[in-house]
Parts: sequence; C-alpha cells; structure tokens
Amino acid sequence: MNTTRRQWLQAAAAVPLLGACSTSPFPSASAAPRVLTAAPARLPVAGQGGLDVWAYGGAVPGPVLRYRRGDWLDIELHNRLPDPTTIHWHGIRLPNAMDGVPHLTQAPIEPGGRFRYRFRLPDAGTFWYHPHLGTAEQVERGLAAALVVEEDRPYPVDQDLVWLLDDWRLDEQGRIAEDFYRFHDVAHAGRLGQKITVNGAEQPRQVLQAGQRIRLRLINASNARIYQLALDGLPGWLIARDGVPAESAIRWEGPMLLGPGMRADMVIDASTPGMFELKDEQSRGAVALARLEVQGRAVATPRPAPVPPPIEGLPAPVLAGAFEQTIVIGGGARSRDGWPQQTEAERTARRQRREAGAREADPAWTLNGVAHTDHHHHHEPLFRVPRGQTVRLTFDNRTAWWHPMHLHGHHFQVLSRNGQPLPDRPWRDTVLAAPGDRLEVAFMADNPGRWLIHCHVLEHHAGGMGTVFEVQG
Ligand code: C2O
Ligand code: CU
Repeated sequence: MNTTRRQWLQAAAAVPLLGACSTSPFPSASAAPRVLTAAPARLPVAGQGGLDVWAYGGAVPGPVLRYRRGDWLDIELHNRLPDPTTIHWHGIRLPNAMDGVPHLTQAPIEPGGRFRYRFRLPDAGTFWYHPHLGTAEQVERGLAAALVVEEDRPYPVDQDLVWLLDDWRLDEQGRIAEDFYRFHDVAHAGRLGQKITVNGAEQPRQVLQAGQRIRLRLINASNARIYQLALDGLPGWLIARDGVPAESAIRWEGPMLLGPGMRADMVIDASTPGMFELKDEQSRGAVALARLEVQGRAVATPRPAPVPPPIEGLPAPVLAGAFEQTIVIGGGARSRDGWPQQTEAERTARRQRREAGAREADPAWTLNGVAHTDHHHHHEPLFRVPRGQTVRLTFDNRTAWWHPMHLHGHHFQVLSRNGQPLPDRPWRDTVLAAPGDRLEVAFMADNPGRWLIHCHVLEHHAGGMGTVFEVQG
C-alpha cells in the first residue's frame, strides 16, 4: 500500500469520531458518497447525431456540481473507462491527497476501480473538474465539467448560467480524431478542433426576459484554444477570474482573453430585446459561439454596475522576505535551442511504453531547461518552502507561443507583466503568458504537499511543460 492510500484510509477512519459529535461541522459519518461514473458513451455532441465520447455521469460536459462554500464534496469516482484515470478539481484549495495527480498525490484509478474524493470547499466561485492522467486524450474525449461553489449569501441575479467552452477535432467520418499527442500539436499551439461547442452544443440559444440580470460562468475546457470573447449590444462586466472575485466589476468592452483552464464570471444585463451573440474574435474573423435572445420590452434606465462578491479566506501573499523563483519557459517550434535532450534510456522506455499501447508525447518544452512529460510526476520538486512562506514566481516565456500557466492547490496574485505593475493584482490560478512575456505572481504557500505547476495547453504539458514544488509542514 502506498503512502497516499494509507494516509487516506487513516483520514477516512477518523471521520466517524468527528461525525458523531452533534456540533461538528462535518456531515454524518454514514452519509454515502455521491457516485460519479466515467464511461464511454454515444451522445449527440458537437453537431454529430451520435459521437463516441467518454463521459462523466453519461453526459458531455459532465454534471454541474453545485455546492455552497464550506460544504463537503464527497464523490466516489467509478472508472468504467478502458484506461486508468483520476479527477483533478481545478482551482480548489484542497488537501494534497485529493488533488488527483497520478503518482504524485494518488495511484491511478485502474479500469473497474474506484476512488472516493472527499474534502471541504473553502472558496466560493467557478471551478471545474477533469482527469489528470492521459489528460490530453481524456479531456478531448469529453471528460470535463463545472464545479460551482455558491457564496454564503446568494449573489443577486435572476439567472445563474454555466457555459463550458470546448473545441473538437473530428475526422472525415465525424468521429473524434484519434491523433492525440501528434508532435506537430505538441510543439506548436496544441490540439485545436474545428468545431466549438458551448455545453456540448453548437451555437446554443438562451432565452432571457428584458430587465433580467444574469451571471454567466464561462469555463474554457479546451485542450489548447485561447478564446477572445466578445458580446456586443448588452452591458456586461467581469466580476471574477478563475473563481476569485475582482476588486470591482470591470466593464466588458472588446475581446476578453480566456485561455485553457481559465474561468470568467460575467454579469450581463438583458437591457434590450433582440438576439445577441457571444463571439470568439479569431484572427480569421469572428465566430458565433452562443446566442442570448432577449424577449420583452427595452428597459428605460440602465442598472448600476454590479458589485463582485466578497473575497473571503484567501491568504494574501506577504512580499517582504518572499522566496523567489524564476521559471524559464523554453522549447517549442521555432526555438533556437533545438528539442529537449532525451537520454537513450528515456527514449527506450518511451518506445516500450508506446509499444505496450500507451499514448505519450515526445518532449518539446522545458521549464528551467528540463522537460517533464506528464506521465510520471514523481520527479524531485523544483523548490521547497516551509508552510506559510510567500513565494514570488516569475514566468519567463522565452518561446514563440502562448502558455496558460496553472498552479495547483493555491491561488496567486499577478503582480506585474513585463515590468509593469498591475495595480489591482488580479487573483488567478492560471495566468496566460504571451510570447516573450515575463509575468510575476505571488502566493502564500499554506497548503502542505507536493503540487504541480504546468501549462494548461494539455499537449504542452504532455510535451514537458510541468514541474513540482513542495510545501513542507
Ligand atoms: Cu486543470 Cu493540472 O489542471
Ligand atoms: Cu504551453
């Protein structure tokens, strides 16, 4: 039995004692977990009558899980897939053993196996869940869904909508193209699909009544696509990024960048009747992703800007005496350094795994000169800090490509971009580095364990763009 498994059993064994106490904030010990199944399915997705996908709970995207801040999430995943899997609860500050990273925080859940995820939800916000093993393939096949944690006091809107954005690469027969980990994708912008869906559908339509104010939770579950989102004709504001509220609402004017893994909570006022499009402003022209149809009569007086919910319980970084670490992002196509070095032993091991049926990328990217592909996460941490230490990280993107850099187990504040301080220091768990960008972020490392930092372009992570840090204590 490995350590994580043993720790988990010990933690589970401790629960009845806590549950027996009537004033305990824990749910009763006998409460059974909710079962979530991951299994192949044929579903009408991406405009195909029946698409062979992998689905959580028989749906693509999977079921929206909704909780209130402070609730316990208690879910047992049953793996009915042909491959091992795990679930990562993206953006949740959870105990390390629940983070779903194979070989680092738990053993892979083999086909036919199950794993109980049980933890408290410390923050309100928009999060999501997805596998963290064979991620580029499993997410692309449809395993992704929203996790919504509501504020202590209900946020004042008339409708709360979740829109999960994804793109699909289909082959000529209209099936999911099985060219996962194609080296061209790995070394360039990642796997881009030719069809974009919102909640699995092409250009869905949502009806609103004039005068309504809605909250729109946008989640980018695409492997690699970066959206430039625009909604013309209705007043809108950004109120939260990656689940964390903004200091004050930011007017939605012009295209808003949303990289893979990132979320944006928008408030939109249905002020005028008509049909309005959520568009992706791509370089080749705008593409309509979804429609808002506002019915009824125009509203005479515009409403005041919304107030974002309060930020509660997030530990602010203390910059004086911070531990500093630079992460140089290197490699990729058009790099002058050539492809990352592989030892003969690594090359042989990779070939053997491939021959045994494993799908795996060749290394194309480095962090501080080292390529860590996403198959094995038991490499040594890049840095270690004691619990409570503030970490100041600099992402130095020396590549010709965009990278949404994601940190597990913590939220960080973005301090500066290319030497320009960001006065509002936005909170995020994923930050988008443009080619040549130098981004400074800071966070309080208060969550013990070994955590990943990686690019959320899933093919980039598969091709080496990941590393580990450790919080001791
Ligand atoms: Cu959403 Cu490590 O990822
Ligand atoms: Cu990347």
